[in-house]
Amino acid sequence: MAEDLSIPQGAPREDLYKALIPQMAALIEGEADFVANVANLMAALKEIPGFMWVGCYFVKNNELVLGPFQGPVACTRIQKGKGVCGTAWAEKQTLIVPDVDQFPGHIACSSLSRSEIVVPIVKNNEVLGVLDVDSAELDSFSEVDAINLQIVAQWISEMH
Ligand code: SME
Repeated sequence: MAEDLSIPQGAPREDLYKALIPQMAALIEGEADFVANVANLMAALKEIPGFMWVGCYFVKNNELVLGPFQGPVACTRIQKGKGVCGTAWAEKQTLIVPDVDQFPGHIACSSLSRSEIVVPIVKNNEVLGVLDVDSAELDSFSEVDAINLQIVAQWISEMH
């Protein structure tokens, strides 16, 4: 496993993912520990410029509980249907929120967060958690992020 990531500087987001995704795959290859792999995946994603907070929440006893993350401290538990994370869980779909102040019920773990994407992690048709990325910039996420973060969510699902 290579421990250093090589990230093209100043490249468009799509090119960053193109460079990062194979390196992330290599990062978790041959390692069976779930938490270690998720922690490293979150750290790798945090290398993307503008990603202020990157982390996972996992469903435990019918609520989302904070898992491995990178960034400022965050709320520990989120109820189903609450906030962007709980809504992505309830609706079982990726949510892109260009302006968190316009999302009813958004949970402001950090006052610096301006936009957000949440991807459900699904296994056997059940949501087992969510992958959440926050940005300090408005309108920071697009379909490019959704597609690539869904790849990462799929890996997490397969490892679980
Ligand atoms: N903003 C999220 C809460 C999690 S933090 O962003 C890390 C939400 O509304 O669900």
